Amino acid sequence: MHSSSDPNEIDPRAEWLQARAQDALTRFADRTPVIYRRPITLDPDTDRAVTDWIGGWTGNSLFLTGPIGVGKTHTAWEICRRWLVAAYGPARPWQGSPLVRTFRSTALFDALRPDAPDDERLTLSRELQRCDLLFIDDLAAAKVTEWTQERLFEIFDERYINRLPVIVTSDVLPGDLTAVTGPRVASRLGEMCRGSVLLLEGRDRRRGEAA
Ligand SMILES: Nc1ncnc2c1ncn2[C@@H]1O[C@H](COP(=O)(O)OP(=O)(O)OP(=O)(O)O)[C@@H](O)[C@H]1O
Ligand SMILES: [Mg+2]
Repeated sequence: MHSSSDPNEIDPRAEWLQARAQDALTRFADRTPVIYRRPITLDPDTDRAVTDWIGGWTGNSLFLTGPIGVGKTHTAWEICRRWLVAAYGPARPWQGSPLVRTFRSTALFDALRPDAPDDERLTLSRELQRCDLLFIDDLAAAKVTEWTQERLFEIFDERYINRLPVIVTSDVLPGDLTAVTGPRVASRLGEMCRGSVLLLEGRDRRRGEAA
């Protein structure tokens, strides 16, 4: 094995990983909604929990809950970004390119509806079953039919059995999601997010300091 004693010598593998990471982060930033591109500071407890979750790399999922405007969605985008950084980091160089998919629940349920073209829906379902990290924003916000719950089950069950992580934001707790997701997804989510439910507390940040 090659080992260099000259600290100025460039390690081609480290350089290559760094270039790939930069590329992935630029592409991720391009598809991040504009207001969520702004760098934010997480409160220390949340920051620690997020660092532990990413560093633990157990396949556990993450559930962010809290009142309206407290910062759930922005925090989740920040977590996805940090997850990508870690996925390319020296401690865990990823085989291939880690794939992060992000969806608002309303858009997701719309894409999974029965009258969506079969091939598009199946392709999407397969992608969401297999991607390395799936972020679903505002899960309790969407109206669902039994059909959509079944499609959601197909996605969650596959991720559940393969221990692939999901980040969910919602203003209700996982146990209260049954009406939206159906009981089988809610049950799986409960286990997938055990020990990693983050409650964000505070004011509605959209109201500004004076609120
Ligand atoms: N840690 C933070 N520091 C500074 N600004 C923040 C932080 N987190 C969120 N914000 C800002 O606060 C506003 C609300 O954040 P966000 O949309 O994430 O809230 P939310 O909890 O998802 O709200 P909702 O329940 O309505 O979906 C946004 O303008 C966002 O950029
Ligand atoms: Mg939100």
